[in-house]
Amino acid sequence: MYAKSPNGAVLEQRNAPAGRQRDLRISCSDMESPPHADSAASVPLTTTLEAIEGVEGWLTRAQATRLWRAANQVPAAGQIVEIGSFRGRSTTVLSLGSSSDVRVFAVDPFLGSDRGPQEISEDRDRGEADMALFTGQMARAGLSDRVTLIRQRSGAMAALDGVTGRIDLLYIDGAHRYAPARDDIARWGDRVRSDGGLMLIHDAFSSIGVTLASMRLLFASSRWLYVGRDGSLAQYCATTLSHRQRASNAARQTAQLGLFARNLVIKLLITAKLGRLTRVFGHDGSWPY
Ligand SMILES: C[S@@+](CC[C@H](N)C(=O)[O-])C[C@H]1O[C@@H](n2cnc3c(N)ncnc32)[C@H](O)[C@@H]1O
Repeated sequence: MYAKSPNGAVLEQRNAPAGRQRDLRISCSDMESPPHADSAASVPLTTTLEAIEGVEGWLTRAQATRLWRAANQVPAAGQIVEIGSFRGRSTTVLSLGSSSDVRVFAVDPFLGSDRGPQEISEDRDRGEADMALFTGQMARAGLSDRVTLIRQRSGAMAALDGVTGRIDLLYIDGAHRYAPARDDIARWGDRVRSDGGLMLIHDAFSSIGVTLASMRLLFASSRWLYVGRDGSLAQYCATTLSHRQRASNAARQTAQLGLFARNLVIKLLITAKLGRLTRVFGHDGSWPY
């Protein structure tokens, strides 16, 4: 059964009782449309952006907006899984962007490792401090009861077993090295529902590990449609792609490798303390996301 949203997007209605607009799901092809008027968000976008002011993290305003809109598409009583929560910036956006009956799982070991640019090795004190700030942010945003923290590495069986049933939205922003990024996309991505489920990946087309994992698993995929990106935040939608669609899907992702090359050069310049030279690329010397 299909219906038109106020912005003209074609919506697919699944077993939705009359009046339950929240059960309308947008199909993969409509993903770049603005959210429909019957938005499922528990809190408006502007209020959500205010709620993350002052919360440290690497999610830009444009990326937070994309994440909020994606969370809007999660059906009533759905499930969101976030890998890599840090101090709760993206967790807040995902939770406030979705309906209040959507369950949100935050997977993070809080070991202080694989935490930010050039912060790979473990630092327990740093991890404990992050977790305290995460817990505080959940309380401040009124999300303590909605968000279930799974304090595990995403690859641990205890983490995978901590979520049962299909995932409607998966957000990957955990360890950015190749092997864990690949495993997150493969193992958790497989659990996203196949009919329009969403996967968003931060630092795609920016970090070497995440980009290589995306190239290997997503560029030629018959399942993951590349929807678009804001900076390094890439969005995918689960569907079934024909051979022809796969070719154009691969081409659209390959076209983003220019951004990857640019970000790589910018990072090398910053690491070599030559940040001012990033102006050549129209950049301001900050770490690119
Ligand atoms: C880039 S930060 C996440 C930022 C967060 N998404 C935000 O927008 O505020 C990376 C986080 O991933 C966590 N992490 C590191 N290794 C992980 C793993 N194997 N599984 C899940 N999370 C991991 C770190 O503890 C850190 O909090």
